[in-house]
Amino acid sequence: MTPAQQSAKAAEICRLAPVVPVLVIDDLAHAKLLAQALVAGGLPALEVTLRTPVALDAIRAMAEVPGGVVGAGTLLTPADVKAAKAAGATFGVSPGATERIIAACEDEGLPLLPGAATASEIMALLEKGYTVQKFFPAEQAGGAAYLKSIGSPIPQVKFCPTGGISLKIAPDYLSLKNILCVGGSWVAPKDAMAKGDWAAITTLAREAAALPRSA
Ligand code: 3PG
Repeated sequence: MTPAQQSAKAAEICRLAPVVPVLVIDDLAHAKLLAQALVAGGLPALEVTLRTPVALDAIRAMAEVPGGVVGAGTLLTPADVKAAKAAGATFGVSPGATERIIAACEDEGLPLLPGAATASEIMALLEKGYTVQKFFPAEQAGGAAYLKSIGSPIPQVKFCPTGGISLKIAPDYLSLKNILCVGGSWVAPKDAMAKGDWAAITTLAREAAALPRSA
């Protein structure tokens, strides 16, 4: 898969909804129910972080949920990329971007949303052909004001910022022309998952799905 094809697919996924839930799943039994709750609320693109022992099995379970588009986040190594693809992930997200991660995703045909946080990192990815990037950690790296400024010299790169974003501040990002969507964990709170309060998660998803976007 070429970088242009990767970015086209990443843009398509980012355009599905204003928010991509960033999910940390501890209990495999939650995976399918969580995906169903989020999809029912209008958030089809789901990022399962490879940060827990059950993450790959969770991707496998969630990939069966109708209407869901399940990706793997926290890709750090080529082995992560291979495992994510084998588990059924249809896209990948990495907090930064290394030559090895990029090559592995291109070889495996796994569309990647590569992470960047500085002008030079954004430019390096753009040079390779990646016009859709994750901006991470969004709030800590300068937030919406930073992305607005980056949009002046580098308007051709579109972003999915994640890190520290909430329902309250998501509109600051989504009002910018260079933001396709935002990522965030707030739509799947740990306490709601622990209680099995899937209705609460669907309500949070609905609120997130209703956020207006400019791009
Ligand atoms: C992450 O990879 O942890 C994401 O950036 C989510 O961040 P959040 O928990 O601050 O939404």
